[in-house]
Amino acid sequence: MTTRLGDPPPAELLDEGERLSPPQLRALQRERLAATLANAYENVPHYRRAFEEAGVTPLDFRDPEDLRKFPFTTKADLRANYPFGMFAVPREQVVRIHASSGTTGKPTVVGYTKQDIDSWAALVARSIRASGGRPGMIVHVAYGYGLFTGGLGAHYGAEAMGCTVIPVSGGMTERQVQLIEDFRPEIIMVTPSYMLALLDEFRRQGVDPRKSSLKVGIFGAEPWTEAMRTQIEEAFDLHAVDIYGLSEVMGPGVANECVETKDGPHIWEDHFYPEIVNPETGEPVLDGEPGELVFTSLTKQAMPVIRYRTRDLTRLLPGTARPAFRRMQKITGRSDDMIILRGVNVFPSQVEEQILRVPHLAPHYQLVLTREGPMDAMTIAVECEPGSDAGERAAAAQALAHHVKEMIGVSAAVDVRDPGAIERSLGKARRVVDKRK
Ligand code: DLL
Repeated sequence: MTTRLGDPPPAELLDEGERLSPPQLRALQRERLAATLANAYENVPHYRRAFEEAGVTPLDFRDPEDLRKFPFTTKADLRANYPFGMFAVPREQVVRIHASSGTTGKPTVVGYTKQDIDSWAALVARSIRASGGRPGMIVHVAYGYGLFTGGLGAHYGAEAMGCTVIPVSGGMTERQVQLIEDFRPEIIMVTPSYMLALLDEFRRQGVDPRKSSLKVGIFGAEPWTEAMRTQIEEAFDLHAVDIYGLSEVMGPGVANECVETKDGPHIWEDHFYPEIVNPETGEPVLDGEPGELVFTSLTKQAMPVIRYRTRDLTRLLPGTARPAFRRMQKITGRSDDMIILRGVNVFPSQVEEQILRVPHLAPHYQLVLTREGPMDAMTIAVECEPGSDAGERAAAAQALAHHVKEMIGVSAAVDVRDPGAIERSLGKARRVVDKRK
């Protein structure tokens, strides 16, 4: 059977988890939560101690409502148990390690059993299918390979899906364009910011990106706005779909958008139990209310996580294309990336939205924070499009400062730079440069 890219998958292609009815899913979650709490308590000294301090044991769990009695897990807990202290199985059963570098201190280490790797691959395969991918397609993976979960996570998932994988990793931008031209992949998996670097390279080589073979882009690992989606979709004539994940919880494929709705990632709730909490008080909030996303793993063997604080800010929404699973609103930012400028909360994604409204500006930008006396100041460093003249650049700077003041409520200086002047990352873009310390 042939389907056009962008169509929902035919029912027979859905996997067992995607076919669960809501009551079946709730029963499965209850059973898996109980098993995960027991595994953590019995096999990870950190969890035993933390549960004891909170005065709970796995026997206090009967229903997902009871989860709130259990303590949170944070990145600091993972660091304190560096490197392998959070593992619930003997190290010999761990077949893979990944780690995220983080900005300070020791990396966060995560481990997987053979079965964990298989479930992860199956969830990335489900994510690729939700994005419009089908067995037999060619997938260009430009997420970084290595300790970062992006490259290998995408790779195993695409193989499990039955695709032909091109494991390019990040970098060598010129060659990436050539490989896309020669191998003609239908799917690309890459950070949205690196996709923009590829776009520049297509244009530099005089290759029309709209005529490329790419039909679906599966973009994640960093926040990106609806405005960026439109920009990329129009530039390449493809479907841009959002993939979400984090190494502590698994890697890419914790949640993924469905191409037929593109209305925020569906959380694969048969493997991850989501909660939203107030980031200050830790109190759970109702579905639909904004707050910090918290996950409890449901099937992980090597490194179960209990109520892991992601620091990602979003809200839970009802399922659409996969009605049994809840969606998360596209991430607006991490609490870590929130800038408080003279009392106003600002996320880089809000500035991105405004940049994309202004003619002659390119979506390559950084927010530079400085301190002038007692006052914090923000400069938006942003590139102009090739060929913009001095008058157009000045008008663009003025327009952006105006929009940012009107829409976000802060005054910012705008520094319009030449094309190529803002550092390009091969993976996650660095959006904030803090020069205040
Ligand atoms: O970034 C895993 C991943 C790889 C996801 C490839 C998607 C694609 P970490 O390096 O541990 O893992 O970083 C996780 O990245 O907590 C979010 O803040 C951010 N992030 C990931 N996906 C998205 C997304 C990988 N779709 C952190 N939108 C998370 C916004 C995202 N932010």
